[in-house]
Amino acid sequence: MFAAVGQARLLVVASTAAVVLIIASQFSSQLPPKVVCSFAPALRRIQGIASTLSLPSQHVVTMAGNRAMDTPLLRLRDGNKVPMLAFGTGTAWFKEPEDHDKFDKDLVLMTKAALEAGFRHLDCAEMYDNEAEVGQAIKESGIPREELFITTKVANGIKDVPRAIDESLKKLQLDYVDLYLVHEPWNLHTREDYQNVWRGMEEVKASGKAKSIGVSNFVRKDLEMILNGSPKELPIVNQLEYHPYIQRENDGVPYIPWMQEQGIEVEAFKSLSALARCPEGPLVEPLQRMAKSHNVSDSAVMLRWFLQQNIVAITTTRKKERLQEYAQALTFELTKDEMDEIFTEGKKLFKRFYFPGRYDPDDRS
Ligand SMILES: NC(=O)c1ccc[n+]([C@@H]2O[C@H](COP(=O)([O-])OP(=O)(O)OC[C@H]3O[C@@H](n4cnc5c(N)ncnc54)[C@H](OP(=O)(O)O)[C@@H]3O)[C@@H](O)[C@H]2O)c1
Repeated sequence: MFAAVGQARLLVVASTAAVVLIIASQFSSQLPPKVVCSFAPALRRIQGIASTLSLPSQHVVTMAGNRAMDTPLLRLRDGNKVPMLAFGTGTAWFKEPEDHDKFDKDLVLMTKAALEAGFRHLDCAEMYDNEAEVGQAIKESGIPREELFITTKVANGIKDVPRAIDESLKKLQLDYVDLYLVHEPWNLHTREDYQNVWRGMEEVKASGKAKSIGVSNFVRKDLEMILNGSPKELPIVNQLEYHPYIQRENDGVPYIPWMQEQGIEVEAFKSLSALARCPEGPLVEPLQRMAKSHNVSDSAVMLRWFLQQNIVAITTTRKKERLQEYAQALTFELTKDEMDEIFTEGKKLFKRFYFPGRYDPDDRS
């Protein structure tokens, strides 16, 4: 009898705790960063449980012709939400210095095509030298500003970040960006350099000209330069090269889950490297096999692998038809075995494509 009462009490306490944690996890974006950080691992676990319990997860559904593009939203610690599939305006669209004065009409058309296909997240950068083209495409698309998620990054202007954002906003013809990133750490040498640039980022966020702020291409020691400086705002995102051939771990210590536990979300670029840059690599056959079995493109399989790790996938193309291939990433699920096979096969090859010479070869974070 006493045992039964004891068990019933335990059950009530456990269910109350679970309900409190699930509710807390739903509202974690509204808690102060320090509170969220201390409870981040527990909240994340509960959020995982909540999503498997099918609590409402958020998506943005856009229509292109009669097709819907149903993009999941990743909720950031500051409450903002990022569409998890992004169209990038760098690499394939990067403007060489000799073309600086040329307005790239093709990029305007392709950006509009991406928006028409249903993409709502555009990834730009001051360094790509084509923010004016993206701004023109946004304007011509007629899509309300609040339906878009626009990222840009500062590199050349890091000495005066508030001025750099003004220049970017002017070119983009916008009042604010959704996400502003320090593009790269390579011009930052001392602890003071990191902290000065981060104070500039905080100023930009406080001014409302960027809703969220983060970094890009930061290995763990770079991130720690900021985290150890008692920032007012923590970096909310790290955008970096991540794909099966660079799984970002040092001596078996993985970097991605570490960041996620700190509440720093991950965005992956060079996401399609296994297909676009390694035609002889060990993943070509598995990706094609999985594509066939799910009746989607191989690029969709690759992009899906990121989404199922709660990572934003950034890609690009110069070909309109690819946009539909990419959008298929939102229409199916990889099994656990398929996810694992991509991890396992990927570990057979190590490849860093983005400025490999700038990284310490012993640091694979
Ligand atoms: N933060 C940073 O420092 C940084 C660095 C690099 C990139 N980025 C961002 O990430 C965006 C994406 O660039 P990325 O280079 O990383 O993109 P990616 O997704 O790795 O590669 C895109 C390329 O893959 C090709 N492709 C697509 N499907 C394919 C398939 N099935 N087989 C073979 N090739 C295929 C496309 O070629 P086609 O053009 O012929 O379709 C496209 O140009 C950039 O635009 C930029 O916004 C950021």
